[in-house]
Amino acid sequence: MDLKALLGQMTLEEKIGQLIQLSADFFGESTELTGPAQSWGLSIEELSSIGTCIGGKNAAEIRKIQEEHLKIDRNKIPLIFMRDIIHGYRTVYPIGLGLVGSFDPELVGECTEMAAKEAAAGGLHLTFAPMVDLVRDARWGRVMESCGEDPLLASTMGAAQVKAFQGEDISSRDHLAACVKHFAAYGAGESGRDYNSVEISERTLRQFYLPSYKACIDAGVKMLMPSFNDMNGIPSTANPFLMKRILRDEWHYDGAVISDWAAIWELTVHGVAADMKEAARLAFENGCHIEMLSSAYYKHLAELVREGVITEEAVDDAVMHVLRLKDELGLFDDPFHQADDARGEAMYLSPEHREVARRASEESAVLLKNDGTLPFSEDVKKVAIVGPFADEQAMIGPWSALGKTEEAVSVTSGVRALLPNAEISVHKACGYLFDELDKSGFADAIEAAKNADAVIICVGEPAHYSGEGNSRTDIGLPGVQADLVNEITAVNKNSAVLIFNGRPLALSNIYKNAPAILDMWFPGSEGGNAAAALLFGRANPCGKLAMTFPRAVGQCPIYYNRMLTGRPKKGPEEVYKPFTSGYLDCGNLPLFFFGEGLSYTTFEYNAMTLDTHELDEKGSIKVTVSLTNTGERAGKEVVQLYLRDKASSAVRPIQELIAFKKITLEANESAEVCFEITEPMLRFWNAQNEYISEAGEFELFVGYADHRYISDEFTLVK
Ligand code: BGC
Repeated sequence: MDLKALLGQMTLEEKIGQLIQLSADFFGESTELTGPAQSWGLSIEELSSIGTCIGGKNAAEIRKIQEEHLKIDRNKIPLIFMRDIIHGYRTVYPIGLGLVGSFDPELVGECTEMAAKEAAAGGLHLTFAPMVDLVRDARWGRVMESCGEDPLLASTMGAAQVKAFQGEDISSRDHLAACVKHFAAYGAGESGRDYNSVEISERTLRQFYLPSYKACIDAGVKMLMPSFNDMNGIPSTANPFLMKRILRDEWHYDGAVISDWAAIWELTVHGVAADMKEAARLAFENGCHIEMLSSAYYKHLAELVREGVITEEAVDDAVMHVLRLKDELGLFDDPFHQADDARGEAMYLSPEHREVARRASEESAVLLKNDGTLPFSEDVKKVAIVGPFADEQAMIGPWSALGKTEEAVSVTSGVRALLPNAEISVHKACGYLFDELDKSGFADAIEAAKNADAVIICVGEPAHYSGEGNSRTDIGLPGVQADLVNEITAVNKNSAVLIFNGRPLALSNIYKNAPAILDMWFPGSEGGNAAAALLFGRANPCGKLAMTFPRAVGQCPIYYNRMLTGRPKKGPEEVYKPFTSGYLDCGNLPLFFFGEGLSYTTFEYNAMTLDTHELDEKGSIKVTVSLTNTGERAGKEVVQLYLRDKASSAVRPIQELIAFKKITLEANESAEVCFEITEPMLRFWNAQNEYISEAGEFELFVGYADHRYISDEFTLVK
């Protein structure tokens, strides 16, 4: 398509139309305006030049909207259809925070490709994913979508998603364009409250928060979305430091930019724009090409051009970003992108897709505690499944596009399918909401637990307690669920607790009594089958935490790669030490660490060897780690390599993950895992805010967070 010629034939109003995104309910028959379109005061002509649409429930609806649109658009420019595909389209896999804990970028890619195929068949051209906001505060509900608290993990998993969504060619029928979000530091909102202000130093921003967005850009992401929050006083949508200096000048990003939902209007609510006209100018000048669902561009952009505040060349440039994307998607040749509900129906929840979802749920689950109770024997005769998630299908998670709870497998169904001959009793016992305090269902559940050979206690938070806008100040198990765990485990020690959650929960009040705790996150369509396989040993847990679990909410924000203070607390964690950095009523360490997760087998680390202990700017160090599966069954281990800079011009974290590899070992099998360390891996934002490495000594260790299995040192010479 000759895009320049196309642009040349468009009026200013038609160009501006390309920069506006409306939802599917704005579009109807080509001759009639829908209610939302009328309430905006749109004419048919104005509607005909709109550039993109959010939503559309399936290929049939999207095809219809596109057909009607092309009938009335004088320039015959197809719409792009966009939507959030976060953890699956119709076949739902675990929420992001769980899935990235698989530490397996290929698995993340496999899930994402599956979602891309399903969504593209359903008519979509672009997904508002991946979300790679670094997260450190479990109170924030959106941690569930994220790739966790570590920059390397988030970068690796973000890039894996971009590549899998987009494939080699976004015009292919099985792929869509991706949109990295929310730029930047949305996860650092004060007090863990959604949309809240972010106050952050440039060093912290660059060191920890920016790498994951950059990794997605390097992976070729087609679109970027600025975040809702203000950062150091300036909302991202209108923030020249982020949108111009970093994004364009430093990173040379030349893809499209879309506002978040009504975020341009929100500039007036933040109070940085006096009115919608000023909001339009600020967002446009900062490189926001498309306005999602507010009307600043629609109402004021043409006027700003006529007044000479914005040049028509700048509008042309923005429009070209949209047209180029349409061209790359192949929409000028096939405006329907081969959307086909029949193809979709054949894939949705097909055995192949359910298999991917189940494997992903198994590999995302994290075994947090096990005194030997798990795995249960398959020979058990009587099983009691208790708790509000016992037979709950609403565990696909908060953002599952077209996912349907009735298509998800509950724990009870999963266990019944695995143990068809066992006697299984199910006792909901209580609710999972804050204010569900009724314990009258406990008695039955306790009685059943007393008489059971194995007890599965299914507790957690409902899906709507995490996700957008859903922050919490109490991140324990809601209602009386902790009492349920404690009362059940008191009568039968052959009990395992399954947790369903969208965030790290503070589990101190059940930790001691629970013989085993398995975190399932929101596991998706195949959750119950995955849980059953894990509980009864058909699958071996291998997931690791991508985010720290605090002991108490008062520790938030808490994360493994913290800075060393001048008065660190030494000695026993529980003991309060005056004038050291700590709390009177709680230790500093979390309940569960980033990178932590048990298996039914054990791995012993035998040695770590470095082929040299001196590194210069041109060289590399080969690190060889040897380990053995010392248990009785095959298992997967994530070998995590951490670094500490012993002295540097600015304080650096007490440990930083610099590489990881996941391997499978049979019982008694040993392996060597190799890593290469080069000078760029040692760089950081120093005291002068330069990204460089500094000569000196470094510690290297394998383990997780504060746990060191084996360590060594080397020197960087310059
Ligand atoms: C969210 C974005 C999302 C958009 C469109 C907003 O409220 O912050 O993450 O992509 O809605 O659904």
